[in-house]
Amino acid sequence: MAKDVIIALDFPNGRDALSFLENFKEEEVFVKVGMELFYKEGPEIVRKIKKLGHKIFLDLKIHDIPNTCAGATRSLLSLDVDMINYHAAGTGKMLNEASKLIKESNKEVISLAVTMLTSTDEDTMHDEIKIDKDLVLEDVVLSYAKLSKNSGLSGIVCSALEVPKIKEALGEEFITVTPGIRKDKNNSDDQKRVVTPKDARKLGSDYIVVGRPITKAENPLNAYREIKEEFLGGK
Ligand code: C5P
Repeated sequence: MAKDVIIALDFPNGRDALSFLENFKEEEVFVKVGMELFYKEGPEIVRKIKKLGHKIFLDLKIHDIPNTCAGATRSLLSLDVDMINYHAAGTGKMLNEASKLIKESNKEVISLAVTMLTSTDEDTMHDEIKIDKDLVLEDVVLSYAKLSKNSGLSGIVCSALEVPKIKEALGEEFITVTPGIRKDKNNSDDQKRVVTPKDARKLGSDYIVVGRPITKAENPLNAYREIKEEFLGGK
């Protein structure tokens, strides 16, 4: 299975994102475009980045009624993105319709589910989302992951620390995309539970998502290469 590093393009506008990508003229990379950049620049930023030869994870976390979700999926498929995601809480019917459309398109698009956002803790999950008090967060993540797999999605976004359990329950082929990666565990910015690229490999992550350790590095290309080498097993 393909393993790769995805660079999170967390920039406020297209000019900054494209200027950062000047560092990657010699190397085609996989980047994540999130809501901040997409809502500012629209689909044109996706076309521009694709034109540079890079792969795109369009992180828009779709969550709506099945019909609207299907329409959104059609629009994203027309942009030729490489990875898209949905909230598992949108339920099986929504996820099913999306994965059916992706399969019918014959495009190689990886579809992921977001399970429980990492900003939601267990108390909030019980008190505000009203998930049964008997369930711990880990059970809910696993149950959403199962629902996603049964609905035809390719994988989930999760912490690298959760990968062994997910793979054990859902199989090696079920893709795990893991943010919260730091080479230096003492320099974690606002991330709470960080994992090194090497440990992410050992834990079985398929893709790691890395933002600031690359975007804020003095030499982003070198930082990217070092992280990639460590993740893929060169070091
Ligand atoms: O800069 P940093 O490496 O922390 O960026 C991580 C990226 O992954 C950001 O775009 C962040 O929004 C995203 N992400 C995350 N944790 C999640 C889901 C997404 O850090 N649970």
